[in-house]
Amino acid sequence: MEIKFHGHSCVQIGSDENSIIIDPFLTGNPIANAKAKDIKCKYVILTHGHADHFGDTLEIAGDNDALIIATAEISYYCEKMHRKSHAMNLGGSFTFPFGKVKLTLAHHSSSLPDGSYAGDPAGILLNIEGKTIYHAGDTALFYDMKLIGESGKIDYAFLPIGDNFTMGIDDAVKAAELLNADTIIPIHYNTFEVIKQDANEFKRKIESIGKKCVIMSPGETIKI
Ligand code: NI
Ligand code: MN
Repeated sequence: MEIKFHGHSCVQIGSDENSIIIDPFLTGNPIANAKAKDIKCKYVILTHGHADHFGDTLEIAGDNDALIIATAEISYYCEKMHRKSHAMNLGGSFTFPFGKVKLTLAHHSSSLPDGSYAGDPAGILLNIEGKTIYHAGDTALFYDMKLIGESGKIDYAFLPIGDNFTMGIDDAVKAAELLNADTIIPIHYNTFEVIKQDANEFKRKIESIGKKCVIMSPGETIKI
């Protein structure tokens, strides 16, 4: 299985026939090198409705006839826009053809591009091809991350480190500890000046607590 990082919080996971894209913010993303029209996927999963996450969802889902998986309010908005969507909510899980998705807590805010209410923001816990992947979305550090980690060994955790809107480096290191994830991949940094961070400092701090850290450049793919 492959994981491709498109910059900011946008991650594409899985083999071609089952490809999933999370938070597809490409248009207007200064560090992305992929274009929305070139994305091939079967599913779009969203953590929340903010423009730097919802991004090109409607275009990509339309072009690929992809299913959008999101919290109820976002899902109903997508259906109103004539896209296929599966509504979920926090704490719920559902098994899709590619694997299981659980929406977890995230402490942040959420609204849709038109300013309407988008429900609560979420994190995503994904069981796919024998791996457990956690995408924290945008969130503050919270102690219940420990429960997420206790529900099953997390192989890869995508954690925001940009500070200002989300956890910064030190809180994300604490999050990695609570989650007890094997490998941490930093996201949501260096896209804009206000969230500029030194990913190498994060890597050093993650390694100092005995965990692995993989810094992915936009456009980079890793095999897991
Ligand atoms: Ni946000
Ligand atoms: Mn964000």
